[in-house]
Formats: sequence, structure tokens, C-alpha cells
Amino acid sequence: MGKSSGKQPQGAKRERAATARPPLSGDPTAIAAPLHRWYLAARRDLPWRQTRDPYAVWLSEIMCQQTRVSVVIPYYERFLARFPTPSDLAAADEAEVLELWAGLGYYSRGRNLHRAAGTIVREFGGEFPSEAEEIRSLPGVGEYTAAAIGSIVFGHTRPVIDGNVERVLARHGAIDGDPKRGEARRELREAAEHALDVDNPGDHNQGMMELGATVCTPRSPRCETCPIESSCRARALGTPETFPPPRARRTPETQHWLALVVGTRGRVTTIERSGVEELLPGHRGLPMIRWGGDDPPSAPEIRIAANRALVSLRITSKGSADTLDVLSAVAHSITHRRLRIHPVCIEGTIDNDSAQLIDGKSGARLPALFRKVIDAARRP
Ligand code: ADE
Repeated sequence: MGKSSGKQPQGAKRERAATARPPLSGDPTAIAAPLHRWYLAARRDLPWRQTRDPYAVWLSEIMCQQTRVSVVIPYYERFLARFPTPSDLAAADEAEVLELWAGLGYYSRGRNLHRAAGTIVREFGGEFPSEAEEIRSLPGVGEYTAAAIGSIVFGHTRPVIDGNVERVLARHGAIDGDPKRGEARRELREAAEHALDVDNPGDHNQGMMELGATVCTPRSPRCETCPIESSCRARALGTPETFPPPRARRTPETQHWLALVVGTRGRVTTIERSGVEELLPGHRGLPMIRWGGDDPPSAPEIRIAANRALVSLRITSKGSADTLDVLSAVAHSITHRRLRIHPVCIEGTIDNDSAQLIDGKSGARLPALFRKVIDAARRP
């Protein structure tokens, strides 16, 4: 890659040729210097870029794996205000942690964060560890997160490879094939190692992610503003959008669930769901029942199933089974599942120590799925 042919034009002629047509090498070592200059000038002013606290950087990296930076900022600030140190987080109830996570999705990440805080307190005396292998040993911390925290806070010379970085490198080197597998994966890793700015690994890794998020975007990349355009092979080929090739999408599974909206006078009862539920375990929310079939259940089928579950869920209904109000299904997607939630409104109470009657406002902290169902049940 990037080797010259041996027969070079000479003198001024060569200079002109080089200016008119720069070496479109795809050489990853051409990335570090222009990327660093660009990053220092163009980086977004994000709250976690004002700190060297590894705990705060860790939190930001885990949250940024979930969703866009603009969505993350208020979650990050609320979370740090409530749990300013690993010890504060470790001392909290999981339900409270998940409540602050609600809306970000992928709750296993919030749960792992809480578990990892416990590890930091027990094994590292409450101090966030600084060695790469120690950071990697924390629950929920993989190669990517360890490299990000390690480079940003401790100057570890490890490249971060996330989806954004894969795209930048795949285009820059015109590396074809699935970035997650085989030869393309190997080549991308090698390119990431060669590209790394060992004098500024934290800025470099953030610069690569920033470039992928703001310039080298999946569709319509803004090549004219890109700091590494002159050495980008995909740009030279004129087809940057085609790298990396699109991945085959898994078809999502459809599942039907009944959600029991138990309450009285516009207020709804939420309970703490057990940690072994298939859906949203350990969260405050509504009692749910999985409908086994692939086809949507009819209203009479829903009434029968809900009525059967009342005793085991310790729900006392004021009306009879045929008065249960079945609403139109609410759609919600979680990872690879398309959920169809069938709300069943029941005038009654739940005999459960964790039961709480909530009004419109206090529902704001619930996972999105429950908020949608409760909103549907409140609609006149
Ligand atoms: N995405 C995840 N972490 C990031 C970071 N530190 N900078 C830019 N984008 C990111």
C-alpha cells in the first residue's frame, strides 16, 4: 500500500503533478497529524471533555454506546449529579440506577455499570483502576471501552475501534468486506494500530470517533471538509459511501405481550418487576404476560388470559372478566424484537409490597415501553 512505482517524474514537473494529484495512498500513517489538528479545532464541547475523572469518562463512553451524544448529555449530567463517585453508585439500589437509565435502552449496560461500581469499591478501594487489564476486567467493559478510557484518561496507546472508526478506516484504506469478520476485520485492526497517534492517543481516538460521527457519516459524507481527504482511497475512487458494505439485517422477531394497567381514577399501579423477567427485568413497571402465539390475540382471548393471571399476580379486579378493557396494541422495538403490547385496563389493586400508584408526571422515569402503554391507557 502506498508504494511508489519507481519511475517518478522529475523536478518541477513532479512537484506540479503531486500538487494536482496528491498521493491517494490509503496509508494509515498519514492520518495522525491532520486528524489531530482538525480535532483540536473542530471538536464538540462535550461535558466529559472537561474532566480527567476516569469514572466520568467511563460513564460517558458507556452511555455513548447507546445513542447519540445530544441525547446522552442530560442523562450523563443527572447520573453524575446523583452518583458522583463509584462508591455512591455502588451503594445505590439497582432499581434507582435503572430509573436514571430509563430511556437510554439496553438496560444490561446500566446494570453492569452498577455491578462494576461494586467491583471498584471491593477490589480497588473505590478508586477507578488505571491499568489496561484492570479496566478491562470490570463488568461490561470490553476492548472498546477499555481502550477509550485508557487512552483518554491514562494515555494508553491503544486504538479504539467502534462502528464510526471502522467506517473511517474502511474508507481511508478502501478496505472492502464485513468489518466485523475475517480479512477485513484483521486489516482494519492493523490500520487502526498504524494510524494511532502515540503522542496523543486520547485525542486521536476521540478524533477518529468524532470524524466518523460528524464528517465521515454513513450516507453523504462531507469529504470536502475532511482533514484526511487527500490520502483517502475511497474518496479517490469516488465511492466513499460504498465502504464498508452494508450488513445483512437480521429480521426482527415479533412478540405479543399483555400489559396489565391496574388502577383507579386515572392513576396506575406500578410494581418492581423481578430480576428474572424476560422483558425489562428488575425495572419498575407494569405486570406483563407473554402471549405464546405468533398471531395477534383477539380481545376475548386477551380477556381470558388476563383474567387467568389475576390470582398469581395478586390483582383484585372490581369488575368481572368481561369488563376488562382491551385497548389497541402499542408497538415498541427492543434490540431484535418487535413487540406488540396489548394493554388491558383493570379497575382494581395489586397486592404487592412494591406497588405504587402513579400519576402522569411520575411515569416519566419509567422505561419507554411502560410510558407508551400508560399514555395509551390514559387517552380518552
Ligand atoms: N463516541 C463515543 N465516545 C466518544 C468520544 N469520546 N468522542 C467522540 N465520539 C464518541
